[in-house]
Amino acid sequence: MMAAPAPQGYAYDNQSVHAVEHHDALSGLLDNQTRQLIEGLVDLPGSRCLEVAAGGGSIAVWLAEEVGPTGSVLATDLKPERIPNHPELEVRQHDITTDAPPGQYDLVHARLLLNHLPERRTALRHMVEALAPGGVLLTEDFWPTMGEDLVVRAKDTATAALVGRYQQLHMQILASHGNDRNWSRRAILSFIDEGLEEVRIAIHGSSWRGGSPGCRLLRAGMGQLHDQVIALGMTDEELARVSEALMDPDLILYGYLTYATSGRRPAG
Ligand SMILES: C[S@@+](CC[C@H](N)C(=O)[O-])C[C@H]1O[C@@H](n2cnc3c(N)ncnc32)[C@H](O)[C@@H]1O
Repeated sequence: MMAAPAPQGYAYDNQSVHAVEHHDALSGLLDNQTRQLIEGLVDLPGSRCLEVAAGGGSIAVWLAEEVGPTGSVLATDLKPERIPNHPELEVRQHDITTDAPPGQYDLVHARLLLNHLPERRTALRHMVEALAPGGVLLTEDFWPTMGEDLVVRAKDTATAALVGRYQQLHMQILASHGNDRNWSRRAILSFIDEGLEEVRIAIHGSSWRGGSPGCRLLRAGMGQLHDQVIALGMTDEELARVSEALMDPDLILYGYLTYATSGRRPAG
């Protein structure tokens, strides 16, 4: 009997009990870098910002603080329930593959979205449509480390092999949902095709220690993909050992690279 095809689209779920840890780990891993990137691209006070796929909302809330009373921030997500309330933040449920959110923005930002979506070109076009003349689009996506390349050091070779095997299955599951690991490196070409100017990539990465946000991110993802990993042959006992290793400060991983691609809509 043929296995049922995996559902396409976003592989994790904001309604999972692991989503809070997932978003918290992303925030710890990436927020400082994201803030610096945005501050280098846009003069935030008084600006109109759109945060697409806001997830746990940490960047949306920061933007709401930064734009001040004369600016505005709209945060959207397919499942927006994890975005906190903030008096200066408008939140809407929205699927970016369907159409462009209403309004015109000086900044449109989407982090860790487009790799996941099979309809990434359509979603990108909708984000470009939402740019005001002279507005900036910034997308950030991981270039994840593959299982065989992940472990710098573990407490023993069996643990290193197990963590690497989990990551191999993790990547396989994401791909089965339509995730394209290499989109992050190609996005720049689509930005150019969309007619954006000043297009560039900034690449960031570091090692990840056990217990650090990067390793907690892997652990939170493992919780959400549990049933799919088990279906691919890993046991609960093995998953528990991977989970323990990811919190062991002696573990060192080659962390994911983040590709931040930016471009500006022509002002004329
Ligand atoms: C990996 S999380 C990233 C969250 C946040 N941007 C961050 O970096 O912390 C991906 C987010 O994209 C959202 N998402 C998935 N598909 C979407 C779609 N078609 N339209 C809007 N949001 C979507 C998910 O619900 C989730 O909140």
